[in-house]
Amino acid sequence: MWISFAGIITNYKDVKQFLVQKGHKFRSDTDTEIIAKLIKHIHGLHPNYSFRELVEQVIQQLEGAFALCFKSMHFPGEVVATRRGSPLLVGIKTKTKLATDHIPILYSKEHSKLKDTQSDHRPHGHEIPAHGLARSQSTSEFLPQGDNKEVEYFFASDASAIIEHTDRVIYLLDDDVASVEKEGVLKIHRLKRTLEDTHAREITTLKMEIQQIMKGNFSSFMQKEIFEQPESVVTTMRGRINFDSETVVLGGIKDYIGEIRRCRRLLLIACGTSYNSAIATRQLLEELTELPVMVDLASDFLDRNTPIFRDDVCFFISQSGETADTLMALRYCKQRGALIVGITNTVGSSICRESHCGVHINAGPEIGVASTKAYTSQIISLVMFALMVSEDRISAQPRRSEIIQGLRNLPDQIKEVLELDSKIQEISKKVFEKKSLLVLGRGYNYATCLEGALKIKEITYMHSEGILAGELKHGPLALVDKGMPIIMICTRDNVFVKCMNALQQVTAREGRPILICHKNDQEPQKYGSSVLEVPKTVDCLQGILTVIPLQLVSYHVAVLKGCNVDCPRNLAKSVTVE
Ligand code: F6R
Repeated sequence: MWISFAGIITNYKDVKQFLVQKGHKFRSDTDTEIIAKLIKHIHGLHPNYSFRELVEQVIQQLEGAFALCFKSMHFPGEVVATRRGSPLLVGIKTKTKLATDHIPILYSKEHSKLKDTQSDHRPHGHEIPAHGLARSQSTSEFLPQGDNKEVEYFFASDASAIIEHTDRVIYLLDDDVASVEKEGVLKIHRLKRTLEDTHAREITTLKMEIQQIMKGNFSSFMQKEIFEQPESVVTTMRGRINFDSETVVLGGIKDYIGEIRRCRRLLLIACGTSYNSAIATRQLLEELTELPVMVDLASDFLDRNTPIFRDDVCFFISQSGETADTLMALRYCKQRGALIVGITNTVGSSICRESHCGVHINAGPEIGVASTKAYTSQIISLVMFALMVSEDRISAQPRRSEIIQGLRNLPDQIKEVLELDSKIQEISKKVFEKKSLLVLGRGYNYATCLEGALKIKEITYMHSEGILAGELKHGPLALVDKGMPIIMICTRDNVFVKCMNALQQVTAREGRPILICHKNDQEPQKYGSSVLEVPKTVDCLQGILTVIPLQLVSYHVAVLKGCNVDCPRNLAKSVTVE
């Protein structure tokens, strides 16, 4: 048995205990092995079941979130794949056109109750149909037209994994069971018909370019994605901002703007880097929408059973659009009648589908586990939202105008920051062997501190903390001495004086921070051991320019330490489990 598995089986201990009682031996402590043993067990009891029927029996016993793909020597030439809570798609490659642009769902006609005599293969009391499932027949041939019936199928969690082979995909929904049988025909089955079912799955044509997902001359996807930011920010803004008339239109939410303006409050809910993008934009959203703005980590939001009202507007920010905690928080708010706005990078993702309206950040596929270009595009998307909501406020026009012109100059300024790369590589050589790295700042740059520290710990495995400079004397100052590596962000904004104060507190304890500050700004520079000068932009966009040096620090430190930049240990790109 060959199984490709992504996700988590939450009841794997119960299933394992059941299988051990039945005499199965285990070689590992993984949830993948219980799936293989369970299918073997059911096959032993029902040797006449088809491969797909066996998989259907197996998934009825499993709890958790998973995407699974099975192959077996008992069923040569066949593949069965299924998902629940984790993304899964099927890529289709043919030489000639397909006879149809959708594939009908086949439903089970009957569910017979498990007979008592057969109850021994129920790990925890679920029903398993005793007989082979009767199916309605497919009404359309899912085969290429013409003589050449050759067809290849690709199963993947993300379209970027298969785009080099085909641009035609079917996104499977939860509990779909896709099977390719010997004659090469793809069928999609479901055990039960529900009211929401669409009875067919469309074949979608991807708009992704191959070069978007190739590394090119870069040593890792993360490095490539950092260097793509001058272009990715442009694609995020393309067709949405008119820099001459200074207007912003986000097509995905324009019909809801009235409702949003009348709401009680805005809630921004996300995890990790996406949460940091909410921190980065909260202040501007408060300023331009004049609404209370709450920012929450999805897991904590759920733990608290936060009160939600019908006139709340809830934003769910997620690069993958599949993060389990964020998705569950979305469903929680939707049940309570709030307006759901999705901010995602993945068209067709669960968050995308389950939102009432939203913004695609259009950053292009992000392959490196550490999020970089998605972060800067998330910030820009939320800034554009704030600009759109405030369009009718006369008093906000000068501020809006300043921000829109700031956005116009951003791509060139990002290019300028990327030119610091070799200097950052040198600085990284001084810190890569240290145990810890503190990142200090405040105001709009606080999000940069959190995001920079997250990048550093994530891919270099070095301890790193983003600290609000205003909190320094409430504890973290005790960490500061001449041996503690510190990066400090000190740009000219409304908290500059306070930042200088914090900088002096650090240098008074013999700290010699690496400084990120504005070009030619002598005042903070005299306190730094090294200085990274970035161009000046509007305060609310400055975080985009100050985070890039930290993305590069984390990248270079990871390379110097020999870490796997794109696939850091213990982490996954889509966190589809709680
Ligand atoms: C950090 C990182 C994670 C993700 C988090 C949420 O570099 O990538 O912290 O930001 O797992 O993922 P999404 O945005 O896909 O919901």
